[in-house]
Amino acid sequence: MPNPWWQEAVIYQVYPRSFQDSNQDGIGDLQGIIQRLDYLAFLGIDALWLSPVYRSPNDDNGYDISDYEAIGPEYGTMADMDQLINEAKKREIKIVMDLVVNHTSDEHPWFQAALQGKDNPYHDFYVWRKGINGQPPNELQSNFSGSAWTYVPELGKYYLHLHSKKQPDLNWENPRMKQAIWDMMNFWLDKGIGGFRLDVIDLIGKEPDKGITKNGPKLHQLLQKMNQQTFGNYDVVTVGETWGATPEIAELYSGADRNELSMVFQFEPINLDKQAGKRKWDLKPLNPQELHEVFSKWQIELDQKGWNSLFWNNHDLPRIISRWGDDSPEFRTLSGKMLAIYLHFMKGTPYIYQGEEIGMINYPIKDIQEVDDIESIRMYNQRLAEGYPVEELIASINAKGRDNARHPMQWNQEKNAGFSEAEPWLPVHPASATINVEAALADKESLFYTYQKLIQQRKNSPLIIHGEYQVVETNNPYVLAYQRFNKQEKLLVVVNFSKEEQDYSLAEDWSDGEPLIQNYSEQSERWRKLAPYEAFAVKRNK
Ligand code: GLC
Ligand code: CA
Repeated sequence: MPNPWWQEAVIYQVYPRSFQDSNQDGIGDLQGIIQRLDYLAFLGIDALWLSPVYRSPNDDNGYDISDYEAIGPEYGTMADMDQLINEAKKREIKIVMDLVVNHTSDEHPWFQAALQGKDNPYHDFYVWRKGINGQPPNELQSNFSGSAWTYVPELGKYYLHLHSKKQPDLNWENPRMKQAIWDMMNFWLDKGIGGFRLDVIDLIGKEPDKGITKNGPKLHQLLQKMNQQTFGNYDVVTVGETWGATPEIAELYSGADRNELSMVFQFEPINLDKQAGKRKWDLKPLNPQELHEVFSKWQIELDQKGWNSLFWNNHDLPRIISRWGDDSPEFRTLSGKMLAIYLHFMKGTPYIYQGEEIGMINYPIKDIQEVDDIESIRMYNQRLAEGYPVEELIASINAKGRDNARHPMQWNQEKNAGFSEAEPWLPVHPASATINVEAALADKESLFYTYQKLIQQRKNSPLIIHGEYQVVETNNPYVLAYQRFNKQEKLLVVVNFSKEEQDYSLAEDWSDGEPLIQNYSEQSERWRKLAPYEAFAVKRNK
């Protein structure tokens, strides 16, 4: 059997609200994405994952869906969606939809009907429990702070919501609910989409009475059924968002014989700069050696048994250059290239988040009034009440807040960075005069061309796509290295994950390797000393 297309693909994530506004209302939309398809084709990507564009009251920016088969009016119409699928197809780009089936909006007609009481056939589409002595049934917490249960006085019961109270959890024990979801998924598959990214999918097997949320006992059974009823019948990619995955669990999801998903997003690297056992807001510096160990573990343990996804960024994460590189003008591009080179020679499907390819950086705020993101606001209010100092909370939001990824895409140095002529729903970054697509395209040394080249090199390279992975020792904790190899060839990647010059040494002499990519043009001492954030890859026959 030939290898599936998505093993050879590079996927680009668009956050539609912030990508391109076409009708000047300050909100990005589908026609805006269509206008930018040529740019995306020039970058070289194979598929676009769209964050949700369904009808939604936007309590959580579209991750609270009130109609799965309608486009939110701020994004356009179903005709625009069909046009996008078509126009993308002409450029050999597939459209991957965000599938949010752990919960709906409380404004979804199913939930509205469910509120009518237990005799309504939709009541059991959701998870209801009696309280205990006027208190919620248990201590379960929402991912957005506070109790995961909300009381409905008219019914004398609580409903479960693992996110905001406007995101009631669906009841995956209910056969009619499941059938409604399969039908909806097939509606989208029949339109010719390229697949689904499955939002918080590791929560659908939950057993709330036992306090089990992630990785519930029936999770994999449910996914096999979903596969069989829907996407298993199409040649599409499926990627699950699974915060609780270990390599063993990822193998269950993505093993070729499992008939579940193509791959999952695992967050072990992303969790390395938080204090153990605490929340993402409780910061701790990253140890590059630890990062290398975690990446290497996933590379080795999933080899031949599953498939990795590779990413630094998404709409929930801060910008990687600000996070683990250096966003000062001196090192922004250098550190961005280093991060890209480190990731893109690994085995798996790379994902690029909008603006990552031009080195967009975090947007620091001074006051909570500037924040839109529900997660940051709820954390702030809760911790303020618990006595945390304001400065510490603002510092956490600046480091980890989701708005960092959601400020408008920076296209040029015109008004609002070319995103919109109207005032954008979230302000444009003050650095957009220098960090923008037009400037990146005009500069042959820009980060954009490093991404373009990495994508090109992956295409048609069995070595990069399927080669084996091995850690390479460097005798320096800041110099991370690995090799990829198959029967014919091998390649070496070496990166300095620090702002200081570093000495290092390799057991094997690679100095006759053919250069694949680098972020410093001439470096005679390359084989014993690396400049700040220096990174390169070389290849040779075995
Ligand atoms: C996922 C999404 C996030 C959303 C949450 C609830 O984590 O990526 O943006 O808030 O699910 O749907
Ligand atoms: Ca618009």
